[in-house]
Amino acid sequence: MEKILVTSALTYANGPLHIGHVAGSYLNADIFVRYNKLLGNDVIYIGGTDDYGTPISIKAEEEGVEPRVIAERYNKSMKKDLDGLNIQLDNFSGTSRPRHIKVSQDFFTNLLEAGYINKKSLNQFYDEKHKRFLADRYIEGICPHCKSEGARGDQCDKCGKLIDAIDLIDPKSKISGEKPIIKETTHWYINLPKFENQLREWLETKKYWKDNVLNFIMSWLNEGLIERAITRDLDWGIPIPLENTKGKVLYVWFDAPIGYISSTMEWAERKGQPDLWKEYWLNSNTKLIHFLGKDNIPFHTIIWPAVLSKQKEPFILPYDVPANEFLNLEGQKMSTSRNWTVWVEDYLKYFDGELLRYVLAANAPETKDSDFTWKDFQNKINNDLNNVLGNLANRTFVFAKKYFDGKIRKPEKLSELSDKILNQSYKLTSYIGKSFNGYQVRKATKLVMDIARTGNKYFDETKPWKEIKTNKDKAEETLYVCTELLRLISISFSPIVPKAMKKLRKMMNLTDNFKWDDIKQVPENFQIGEVSPLFKKIEDAEIEKQLELLKAIQTNEVKIMQHKNEIEFEDFIKLELRIVKIVEAENIPKSNKLIKLRIKLGNEERTIVAGIKESYEPEELIGKNVAMLLNLKPRKLMGIESQGMILSAEDEGKYSVLIPERDVKEGSEIL
Ligand code: 2FM
Ligand code: ZN
Repeated sequence: MEKILVTSALTYANGPLHIGHVAGSYLNADIFVRYNKLLGNDVIYIGGTDDYGTPISIKAEEEGVEPRVIAERYNKSMKKDLDGLNIQLDNFSGTSRPRHIKVSQDFFTNLLEAGYINKKSLNQFYDEKHKRFLADRYIEGICPHCKSEGARGDQCDKCGKLIDAIDLIDPKSKISGEKPIIKETTHWYINLPKFENQLREWLETKKYWKDNVLNFIMSWLNEGLIERAITRDLDWGIPIPLENTKGKVLYVWFDAPIGYISSTMEWAERKGQPDLWKEYWLNSNTKLIHFLGKDNIPFHTIIWPAVLSKQKEPFILPYDVPANEFLNLEGQKMSTSRNWTVWVEDYLKYFDGELLRYVLAANAPETKDSDFTWKDFQNKINNDLNNVLGNLANRTFVFAKKYFDGKIRKPEKLSELSDKILNQSYKLTSYIGKSFNGYQVRKATKLVMDIARTGNKYFDETKPWKEIKTNKDKAEETLYVCTELLRLISISFSPIVPKAMKKLRKMMNLTDNFKWDDIKQVPENFQIGEVSPLFKKIEDAEIEKQLELLKAIQTNEVKIMQHKNEIEFEDFIKLELRIVKIVEAENIPKSNKLIKLRIKLGNEERTIVAGIKESYEPEELIGKNVAMLLNLKPRKLMGIESQGMILSAEDEGKYSVLIPERDVKEGSEIL
């Protein structure tokens, strides 16, 4: 029995899950884990959200909430979407949880004490309008290596090289769109050159890695490693564990992979065995396998092993890093900011998660970028799942019920053809296993379909509908062979479409509790139970609807709404919502967004800080009766305590306060 620790790249908690995430690092990991569980290996599957980084701070600012609220919201929604796709992680944590903060700080301290971190002063881009240093993704310009436009401050997507933001040509702040100034600051750097020999030696042992991964790393190493800053000037992040370093936090990429460890610790604790994580992370027999998208390769294969190797405890290093390429959508690069993607929560409103699993597996971007199109989705579901597999199950089982009352016996002697078909298929299952083991989900999917196709061809050739009239045993032989093929499929296809295979097994009265090895347990007979269609076809109209939705997004006619989690009515009535009168309003000088209001209801007055400065002059607001949330815990914004919140509707960045349709008394309750 092998010990395997599988991870999916921690997803940034700045938006919901989309099909790019699923194809990049979740579905392939889940399939691998399911396969290994069938083999009886001791495998745990770990993941969570990457809660830091500027996108989350910016979103929080836009919504006027703490970044933590955003991180928690998307952590929850991603977990729900993963469940909807039957992607079963053993633990799904988040990097803003206290345990992770402590573990990451310890990692930094250990690396510092071991002499691999240097402190340096440097010049950095600074957005004067937004008063913040611009690191990483919030600065864009021309790549200093390949000269293509749109390179980010940390990496160029065109040539894949890591960039030091200051080297970008013609830099622009992505927050304000303006040219940033240069300002001095201090940061802590990991001394990567000091790791070079060690990394090269280690990578020599990784000849079995995927070519795309090895090529990527080698070109990186051959350029020569340089020191990389692992801290940032931000307020949302893990504070560095040193005196007098207020405002300095760990770079999101330093702490993110440590999230794999803290999530495993959380899992161990939930199981009531807090030390259990050590049996994986501190055990040289564990295979640590990181599933991720290609943009994550350098961080997992250079910086992460370097960091792991200098801890006080003997952490294992990655055994394999099967990185996927990218998934495009309808021939174009996916873009969440342009809403050019399929959000899982939207998908699940229309279709079953199993169908997406199949299509993304059949089309996995394993060795090159692949494309998701709705038409292809329909074709694959209708042609493969329905016309090939569904048809084989249906015709076999319906026939068996009609003429044999569902009871199918193994013939005493199989014909040459039957023998050949079965032997070929047993062989195919071993190739399927090998494909799963080698992260070749695409190939595994095709091989399963080959078994089903063979079954249909065999059914056509042996013509049981004719034989039944003259040679009942012959007809029964066909049914036996086809049912046996379906049994093989029910095992070997289960990592890809587990729910459908459970249904298939139920029709054959086979147990849910099976192992990969059961492939070899050839039954003497089958008893077919209740038969129902395995899959349902997708109508043209359903696909047209999805295409229209996408087009509408592109032309901006429809904004796909991202819904929050459902709440109970009891939760809603906890909100105290009333109409209040604005009696004073003034701008808060140092803020671009905030206005200070004084509101009145009855003989009570309160101060409110509202983020509507860009939409109103203070004078416009005075005297208005508006909707307000009263029982929001007071919080300080720009040093002023806000005692509640004015409600307003947001339309493309412009806010409109909510005013009752008729005149109502101040203090009227909103229900
Ligand atoms: O690229 C990303 O989406 C990162 N959030 C991946 C982090 S993977 C790991 F290091 F946690
Ligand atoms: Zn480049």
